[in-house]
Amino acid sequence: MNIRIIGVPMDLGADRRGVDFGASAIRYAGLSDQLRRLGHSVHDIGNIVVPQPESQPIGNPHLKYLDPIVQVAEDLAQQVADALRSNEFPLILGGDHSIALGSISGVASVHRPLGVIWIDAHADFNTEETTPSGNIHGMILAALAGLGNERLTHVGGWTPKLNPDNIVVIGARDLDPGEQALLRAHHVHVFTMSSIDQYGMPEVLRQAIELAGRQGQGIHLSMDMDSMDPREAPGVGTPVRGGLSYREAHLAMEMLADSQRLVSMDVVEVNSILDQENATARLAVELILSALGKKIL
Ligand code: ARG
Ligand code: MN
Ligand code: MN
Ligand code: MN
Repeated sequence: MNIRIIGVPMDLGADRRGVDFGASAIRYAGLSDQLRRLGHSVHDIGNIVVPQPESQPIGNPHLKYLDPIVQVAEDLAQQVADALRSNEFPLILGGDHSIALGSISGVASVHRPLGVIWIDAHADFNTEETTPSGNIHGMILAALAGLGNERLTHVGGWTPKLNPDNIVVIGARDLDPGEQALLRAHHVHVFTMSSIDQYGMPEVLRQAIELAGRQGQGIHLSMDMDSMDPREAPGVGTPVRGGLSYREAHLAMEMLADSQRLVSMDVVEVNSILDQENATARLAVELILSALGKKIL
């Protein structure tokens, strides 16, 4: 496979600094070499330009840094669509989860309809009305489904990018009250940590792939590293106890690879300032390799 790596050093969507080094940390952990060793060809185009928070007004406290976040999303959406049209698999490295606004808008402009598997401790399904923080990384999945502020929903000039029926959240364990109500009202498929405990990752992934790809469409994987248990992935800005184990996450990646439905992937929320010896970035590389075909035997 031909892979195009796009880095997005974005931290405007979250409250903690350090997530803007995530793309560099994942590269430093050996991503390209290991992808090549797997037999892929790798085209790393470097990083998209993202303004520093110090140079930007925060703006509306319910939608912090809206202007630069939308501007980066427009830019990233173009780059991702361009990769797909060049028959390259877009692998987008964050940055905070607000970058998925650009990556998924770009993928959805080429693959319509598109399914999304969103592996995350959170559902990122807030709007400016329900957000407890004003942080836009917590609103991205809702925006892609057409909910919330029009600037977010209309990236690329069209909306919605996703049908909630093809959205599957896996690993959720920290949902805000208004966010829960929205998820229910729009019938988003959410496999919480409790569902994983009850049914096991194999059954959850089997159902997730079926739901996200129900019309035979391609699937985008959005991997928030805070889905992992913080013992495995300490370098994230919003850690929540009781997350995915190392083996559960690998199994999920391996099943996605076997499904042959992935058309693109982003890996987000690696925070290098909070990380311990780049463990979270190194784990991100291992998970990417499993999602892109690495097998034990
Ligand atoms: N639900 C919280 C909020 O809206 C936390 C979101 C965390 N999102 C993330 N991508 N880590 O602020
Ligand atoms: Mn997230
Ligand atoms: Mn999260
Ligand atoms: Mn449904």
